[in-house]
Amino acid sequence: MASGCKIGPSILNSDLANLGAECLRMLDSGADYLHLDVMDGHPALQGDMHMMVSKPEQWVKPMAVAGANQYTFHLEATENPGALIKDIRENGMKSCSVTQAEVQWHSQGPLQVGLAIKPGTSVEYLAPWANQIDMALVMTVEPGFGGQKFMEDMMPKVHWLRTQFPSLDIEVDGGVGPDTVHKCAEAGANMIVSGSAIMRSEDPRSVINLLRNVCSEAAQKRSLDR
Ligand code: DX5
Ligand code: ZN
Repeated sequence: MASGCKIGPSILNSDLANLGAECLRMLDSGADYLHLDVMDGHPALQGDMHMMVSKPEQWVKPMAVAGANQYTFHLEATENPGALIKDIRENGMKSCSVTQAEVQWHSQGPLQVGLAIKPGTSVEYLAPWANQIDMALVMTVEPGFGGQKFMEDMMPKVHWLRTQFPSLDIEVDGGVGPDTVHKCAEAGANMIVSGSAIMRSEDPRSVINLLRNVCSEAAQKRSLDR
């Protein structure tokens, strides 16, 4: 199934004055990737770029050159998702030859495409693009800030996607932590973004391990059930 269970701390709620150190702290604690939330007017770094911006078209190239691994845009923010997916793929490849970013790109590979939907968007709108993307992000809070309450009623979207697209990476983002990860994992999510639950913990490593174990057990059970 998909690409295995991965845990991506969201550093939106971290000590932003020490962003570099916070990223290293998360990687040292066993994070599989970093989930970086980008809003209009804010810069970014490497990682899974969650673009909560009004014009996702305009940031593809800068993010590709900066060395992003994945460009996740919101379906609601564009009128032409197909063109944007194509642009991300093309720019992701082209950036391989940009001298400045060359070293990074050779180790990271091309820019991956993520497509996100807000709580109010029906999953059927995402479905036509599912075979063209690397990851679907089902938001489990309204995008904007960390520490919000997990919306359990988003789980049928995750479950539907997992059933329809068994090998798609499915990410959840918002209010996910030790108390809510079971629901996400059982519904079929394999990429778990967690902000405050990890960042505010005294022992982020054990939280990351717990989230990954819950997710892996559910994935294993699914493969046995099949
Ligand atoms: C919310 C962001 C999230 C946020 C998650 O709009 O997209 O990535 O930082 O934080 P928690 O896990 O605290 O909800
Ligand atoms: Zn996010």
